[in-house]
Amino acid sequence: MPAPPFLHDTGEGRAILLLHAFPVDASQWDAQVAAFSDRYRCLRPDAFGCGSSPPPPPQLTLDAVAASVMAALDSMGVDELAVVGLSMGGYTAFALLRQHSSRIRALVLADTRAGADSDAARADRRSVAERVRAEGVEWLVEPMCERLLAPASLAEAHVVDPVRARILRCRPEGVAACQEAMAARPDSTGMLAGIAVPTLVIAGELDIVTPPAEASQMAQAIPGAGVEIIGGAGHLSNLERPDDFTTAVSSFLDEAYPAG
Ligand code: MLT
Repeated sequence: MPAPPFLHDTGEGRAILLLHAFPVDASQWDAQVAAFSDRYRCLRPDAFGCGSSPPPPPQLTLDAVAASVMAALDSMGVDELAVVGLSMGGYTAFALLRQHSSRIRALVLADTRAGADSDAARADRRSVAERVRAEGVEWLVEPMCERLLAPASLAEAHVVDPVRARILRCRPEGVAACQEAMAARPDSTGMLAGIAVPTLVIAGELDIVTPPAEASQMAQAIPGAGVEIIGGAGHLSNLERPDDFTTAVSSFLDEAYPAG
């Protein structure tokens, strides 16, 4: 198992694990941590090679990420948790469910999908990984912002500039390893009907990476799952419409995983 990723640990109470998207870092969750850390312990790993985490081990998989995050939580004495995963963080949440479903008490799957990549998407990820290793991450910043953010968010410096800065903070080996790990992830669609934990599915109304119709379909396959569409948001719905996203998660947690 790889050395653990760096886990930001804020607040006290029942644990919430917040898993960020690609290619940013745990600061993606700053607004939610500000809202929840008065009553929950907010734990946020940085992806390997991003933020404060060590470089990725060779042949990184999302199953290995999930196992190393859980090992870190074990060493911190965290037993039960709610998991909130956005996009790549959602893919990692499926890996956690495969390994430790009995410890997960509530689940939020935001702007993500259960399915694996198509062959074309896998090939695209591998070419991004290769180019990033050769040239660094700068060239990726603008195309990623256009993919991740709704047009109105792209026009707002206070939204887009921090996203640009987060991408630039990721090291090339981390970005490449995330792409390769996402390309190798298994299809989790078959797990949906067996998810027995209270689940909320969230999607940005204007998300072009994992569109709301796909999110609704995923929610329908999970027994009892709710769906929230975040108006005006693209793929990074928690950053683009932080108040709406936080309200949706807060109402869900009040029922499914009360702070106590
Ligand atoms: C993410 O936001 O984590 C990625 O864009 C997801 C993906 O590339 O599938």
